[in-house]
Amino acid sequence: MELQKPRGTRDFLFEEMKERKFVENTMRKVFETYGYQEIKTPIFEDLSLFTLKSGEGIIEEIYHFQDKGGRDLALRPELTAPVARIYLNQLQKAPKPIKMYYFGSCFRYERPQAGRFRQFWQLGCELIGGKSPDCEAEIIALAAQCLEELKLDDYQIHLGNLGILRGILSQDGVSADQQDQIMAIVDKGDVEELEKLLEDLKLDKKSKEILLELIGMQGHRETINDVKKIITGYPDALKSLKELEELLIMLEAFGFTNYIVNLGIARGLDYYTGTVFEIYVEGLGAQKQISGGGTYNLIEVFGGEKVESTGFAFGFDRVMESLKIQNTNTPIKSRVEVFVAPISSETKLNAFKIAQNLRKNGIATDVELVGRKLKKILSFADNSGARFVVLVGARDLENGEVTLKDMESGKQEQIPLETVAEILLNRINEPNNV
Ligand code: HAM
Repeated sequence: MELQKPRGTRDFLFEEMKERKFVENTMRKVFETYGYQEIKTPIFEDLSLFTLKSGEGIIEEIYHFQDKGGRDLALRPELTAPVARIYLNQLQKAPKPIKMYYFGSCFRYERPQAGRFRQFWQLGCELIGGKSPDCEAEIIALAAQCLEELKLDDYQIHLGNLGILRGILSQDGVSADQQDQIMAIVDKGDVEELEKLLEDLKLDKKSKEILLELIGMQGHRETINDVKKIITGYPDALKSLKELEELLIMLEAFGFTNYIVNLGIARGLDYYTGTVFEIYVEGLGAQKQISGGGTYNLIEVFGGEKVESTGFAFGFDRVMESLKIQNTNTPIKSRVEVFVAPISSETKLNAFKIAQNLRKNGIATDVELVGRKLKKILSFADNSGARFVVLVGARDLENGEVTLKDMESGKQEQIPLETVAEILLNRINEPNNV
């Protein structure tokens, strides 16, 4: 019988895990620099947490099941709804704004392809109880700083505001449900399907033309003026455009100006209300969106008071792939720095003691556990990336010494047993040994 992992899932081996860990830690540090605190939520939640806003339709895209008690549960497809739940359960009285970040796996029942998995990881944050566009500007600057710290050169941050399209649709009497339907198609980028739907919904001809023009508009600050000219007759849409303009001014103060205004951004999830943004990396193919977020009203939908909330999540796996295609090497640490090798079986226990001493001093150390001959130990130690081998021989021990072998230069020297840890710590921290 051949054991297979489930479709759309992956195993990560040692090197890849080291790379992922490095990227995770780099991003965590940036989130914490902006004052975010980490939270963890369950991998599964009540199914209703995800259907409340999005309707039963979303069940198709979710891993859901009944447990032995007959409860309808779902593997989380994302983390914004769980965080909104936590806020309602425990944090309503906390001083605002509340800044939370998370790193965890999510599950979506999608057709797997490059960059699209059934289990994938999100690293993201939610900022609850702040004010737009101040929060939005800070969050976008945070997302950009993460990518800069990772030295990812080539990415684009696209910004939009859903209030512009929705303002036009509302003025024409299009219901909220129908608007969600329209947004889903705008998100897919299928203009033909959109035209057909707008036709079916009997949208006013002028509004239809404006809508189709707007979703194709992209540019820098000047786009604001171009859009203003087109939507003069739509006061709500104009209000949202003003918000977008304010956001751009604030972004400048946060030191991020490399954005693209893009009114075609609709977002796949339907809890967003105002500012939205997505980050793209060319070269990733169809799944080029490495991050997405914006301002949303999920807490009200769950029965809470109106509280402004903004957030975003990186698709962690896509960030990893972007670093790979842009040849951004992450520094890889060797498995161990030191290998302790007994020269004969009689010094084995001494070797164990020396290894423990090194580990207690924070030095990543392996010790021979297979009883091999010295030649084989040395070749294994070399393979494991150890920079030093401590050779433990009976005669050396009688003199209170061990032999230290530098695997890079091949040099060997006797050193006092008492100072092994001290000497190794110094050598490992020497600048040419980083
Ligand atoms: P989302 O756009 O659905 O937003 O997902 C965020 C990111 O997760 C995407 O930009 C993408 O990079 C990655 N992603 C999504 N699906 C997959 C998949 N099947 N395989 C690999 N990566 C994937 C959200 O989930 C929102 N909760 C973000 C947010 C936070 N909005 C406000 N706060």
